[in-house]
Amino acid sequence: MKKLRVGIIGCGRISVMHLVSADNLEMAELVACCDIKENLAKEVAEKYHINAYTNYKEMFEKENLDAVHVLLPHNLHTDVSKVAFEYGVNVLSEKPMDVNYEKAAEAVKLAKEKNVLYGIIFQCRYNNSAKLVKEAVSSGKLGKVISASSILTWARPDSYYLESDWKGTWDKEGGGVVIDQAIHSIDLVNWIIGSPVKDVSVSMANRGHNIVKVEDSAEGLITYENGVKYGFYCMNNYATDEPIQIRLFCENGKVVFDYDDAYIYYNDGTVEEAHQGDVAEYEGGKDYWGFQHIRQIEQFYNACLGLEPLDISGEEALKTHKLIMDIYEKGAMRPGK
Ligand SMILES: NC(=O)c1ccc[n+]([C@@H]2O[C@H](COP(=O)([O-])OP(=O)(O)OC[C@H]3O[C@@H](n4cnc5c(N)ncnc54)[C@H](O)[C@@H]3O)[C@@H](O)[C@H]2O)c1
Repeated sequence: MKKLRVGIIGCGRISVMHLVSADNLEMAELVACCDIKENLAKEVAEKYHINAYTNYKEMFEKENLDAVHVLLPHNLHTDVSKVAFEYGVNVLSEKPMDVNYEKAAEAVKLAKEKNVLYGIIFQCRYNNSAKLVKEAVSSGKLGKVISASSILTWARPDSYYLESDWKGTWDKEGGGVVIDQAIHSIDLVNWIIGSPVKDVSVSMANRGHNIVKVEDSAEGLITYENGVKYGFYCMNNYATDEPIQIRLFCENGKVVFDYDDAYIYYNDGTVEEAHQGDVAEYEGGKDYWGFQHIRQIEQFYNACLGLEPLDISGEEALKTHKLIMDIYEKGAMRPGK
């Protein structure tokens, strides 16, 4: 079987999830990594016996890559992805697509023109729980979704922002708790509901992080064209990462997500449930919500090999990206808004 020549750009905190996945999946050969911090690139290169670069264009020139993982500060995601497209390289980018809508839409267009795949990480869609609920809604088993809610109370202490030169900034991160942490639960609900958004009403504030200007709290109501009303609350001033709560109230039953588990209580008394089960073990990887990178990365590689269509394409991810950008528009905290 042909192996994909794979590289990664950005050897920071999330990179271990991508490196371990690429290293373990048999259809890929991890060949190169890049980070402007030379020590980080060299450390990763030594560990995985691959080539290290500090300039991604040089990596594209020399490595003849089939696919690259883009794991960078948010404002660089589409700029770097577009360079990859010009080299004919398929891209799997971490969320969010970028810090504005237009750049993301342009990247989707360019990928199409260059005939390469552009995937966006939303790994929580690969949780067993999410798959169960999506199927129960899509098949009609749960009937019409009537309303939904999500609550995220996580911990991002000052040290989280102090350790980073881009997190907590409007220009590089594009926001705070919404674009970085709550984006996953908002994406899950948006994907499950699967209808265009009609209206977004939001308030956001920075209530507990004096050292940054971005929002650390937000709540809002999203109304969909199919009539569903989705209320969300998120804040990262909590003492720990509490389980995400997502609820759906449907015609034929109720859904309760608790972290990576889901329970569906049908009106006829039957119950369906899904649990994460065999959790992939990542040395130094994430030990909380959302550790299904390997499933999405495998799907992306299969799509690169032409074995199946890409699940979460740029076009698909634009739906959630547009919603996140609308939340910021309505939240009116971003400078210039
Ligand atoms: N899916 C998830 O659950 C999840 C979790 C955490 C982070 N993320 C996402 O992963 C991405 C990276 O986050 P992180 O926490 O690893 O950040 P990080 O700051 O730890 O890592 C980013 C790395 O990019 C490098 N970099 C910056 N500019 C560069 C350039 N021009 N060329 C090469 N390297 C460059 C930095 O030196 C740094 O090492 C973000 O999009 C973030 O939202 C996703």
